[in-house]
Amino acid sequence: MANKLYGIDFGTYAIKIYHMRQGICFHQKSVIASRGKDQIIAIGEEAYEMVGKQPDYINIDFPIRNGVVADYDRMLALINCIALDMARAGDKMKGASFIVAVPTEVTDVEKKTFYDIIDSSIIRPKRIRITEKPLADALGCGIEIDDSHGSLIVNIGADTSEISVISQGGIVLSRLCSCGGVKFDEAVTAAVRRMHNLTIGPRTAEQIKIGLVDLSSDGSATMKAYGRDYMSGLPREREITAELVNSAVAEPLEIILEAVRSVLERIPPEISADIYRDGITFSGASSALGGLAGYVTKSTGLRVNIAPNGATSVADGLGRVMEDERYEHLAKPLHRTYYEND
Ligand SMILES: Nc1ncnc2c1ncn2[C@@H]1O[C@H](COP(=O)(O)OP(=O)(O)OP(=O)(O)O)[C@@H](O)[C@H]1O
Ligand SMILES: [Mg+2]
Repeated sequence: MANKLYGIDFGTYAIKIYHMRQGICFHQKSVIASRGKDQIIAIGEEAYEMVGKQPDYINIDFPIRNGVVADYDRMLALINCIALDMARAGDKMKGASFIVAVPTEVTDVEKKTFYDIIDSSIIRPKRIRITEKPLADALGCGIEIDDSHGSLIVNIGADTSEISVISQGGIVLSRLCSCGGVKFDEAVTAAVRRMHNLTIGPRTAEQIKIGLVDLSSDGSATMKAYGRDYMSGLPREREITAELVNSAVAEPLEIILEAVRSVLERIPPEISADIYRDGITFSGASSALGGLAGYVTKSTGLRVNIAPNGATSVADGLGRVMEDERYEHLAKPLHRTYYEND
C-alpha cells in the first residue's frame, strides 16, 4: 500500500482519522462555525462550544447528516481546515492516499460524495478507496470477520444506528436506523421540559445524558441543570434525576432494539446460533450509555459485548485494513477507471 495512508470515518457527530501505523491522529466534532460563506471562525470542539450561544451573524453547520454529506460546500471547507490544522501540527496529509468508511445502506451517489470531497480538497490525494463501514467496525471491535462465524454488530452513533450481520468476510444483512444519540438528547430535552418546565439547550441535554443515564441503576442519582423557565422565561436551575432521564432515553432506545429484533428475525438460522452463543456487539460512542448491556440483555435475552473503543471502532478497523494484508482487499476503488489519480 501507499506510503502515507489515512483512514477516515466521517461521522455525523465526529470525524475520526487513523494514520497508518500511528493510530488515531484526529478525532473532533463534525462542526464548522463561519461568518458568511467564506470566513471560517472555528471547527471541531471549538465550534461545538459555540452551539446555542452564537450571535446571529455566525452560522454553525453540521455538514454530515444521517451518516452522509448533507452540505457539500461546508464539508469541503471543513476538510480543508482539518488538513491545514493537521499540517500545522506536523501531520501533512497532502498527496497521501485515503480509505473512507461508507455506510452500506446509502446510494452510490452518496458514497461518491465522500470521494469527491477529499478529491477536490487542498489535500490533492494520490488515491482514494472505500470500505464498507460495518466491516471496518467489526474489525475495529476485534471480530475476525473472515471465519465462518456470524456476528451481529450494532453501531449507535449520533444520527444513526447501523445494524449489521457479518459472516465469512462479508455483510449478510445491514440496516441503517435513523435513531441514535441525538434522539436520546431530544428525549432528555422533552422530559426535562415536561417535568420541570425547563427549556434546556442541546449541549446541556447531552451533558445530562452522559452524566446521569444508568439504565441499571435505581435512578436516584441527580444532577443540576440550567436553562430557561418555560413559563416565566427566566433563567433557572433544577435538580434532574437519573430516573427521569433513564425513562426518557428508553423510548428511542426501544426504536433501535426494535430494528435489531427485525434484523434478528431475518437472519439465517445457522448465524442465529452463532449470535446466541457470542451475543451482540455494540459499538459507536453512544454504546457507552450507562447500563446499556444489562438493558439489552433483559430485553432480548442475548449476551451483549460493548466495544471498549466504541467511539473510534470504525477508524480503528480502517487501521487494520491498512496494516493487515489479510484485509487489504476490503479497500476498494469506487470505480477504477475514473476515480484513481495515480
Ligand atoms: N459516555 C457516553 N454516553 C452516552 N452517549 C455518549 C457518550 N459519549 C458520547 N456519546 C454520544 O455519542 C454520540 C456520537 O457517537 P459517534 O461519535 O459514534 O457518532 P458518529 O459516528 O459521528 O455519528 P453517526 O455514526 O450517526 O454518523 C453523540 O450523540 C454523543 O452524545
Ligand atoms: Mg458513526
